[in-house]
Amino acid sequence: MNYVIAIDGPAGSGKGTITKIVADKLNLVYIDTGATYRCVALASLRNNIKLEETDKIINLAKTLDIDFDVNGHTYLNGEDVSNLIRSHEVTNIVSPVSSIPEVREIMVDLQRKMANNKNVIMEGRDITTVVFPDAKYKFYLDADVMERAKRRFKQNEEMGIESNLDDIIESIKKRDYNDMHKPVGALKRTNDQIYIDTTHLTIDEVVEEILKNIK
Ligand code: DC
Repeated sequence: MNYVIAIDGPAGSGKGTITKIVADKLNLVYIDTGATYRCVALASLRNNIKLEETDKIINLAKTLDIDFDVNGHTYLNGEDVSNLIRSHEVTNIVSPVSSIPEVREIMVDLQRKMANNKNVIMEGRDITTVVFPDAKYKFYLDADVMERAKRRFKQNEEMGIESNLDDIIESIKKRDYNDMHKPVGALKRTNDQIYIDTTHLTIDEVVEEILKNIK
């Protein structure tokens, strides 16, 4: 019997890093659903589609071939876009793009197909509530805004992306608001998620906490 571990949480809560480690330890397929929305945003930019042109974004989303390899690289129509989808340009528009209900329908469908017949660990904003509400294990990872901004700043530095901490704080606050107030697929805390505040925990401690709950 295949199973799903679903992890939700706000931007910078450590979901990506933690999920990859747990996937390796338990030999699970890792699916970063944020990357699927980032691919739609990147493709929209490349096709010079404006955010108001929602019909065009929806039609484009239907045609995209989005895939991940075993190393967690993201492919858009066969091209490795793992770094490109983390650019400021994409980050700035991805939340409104992911708020379009029809885009979400297409992506949720794709995400469910990616999990077909596999043991997966999937992270995002609506995995525990919409994509796999019946997942065997459901987690919500959180951290305070300042800590999340510092983590994103460090991540950018490591990827050679220039950034400013104040700008990141503002952008995280804006994204939190958008992510929590979407008409469909909003980030939500529920009683059946295991809640982990990672603000004062190391990566290893969070991984430990997750593994403890899975066992
Ligand atoms: O996790 P991330 O920062 O790469 O996500 C990018 C955007 O996509 C973010 O603004 C929230 C949105 N998203 C979503 O709406 N639903 C998901 N399951 C995953 C991400």
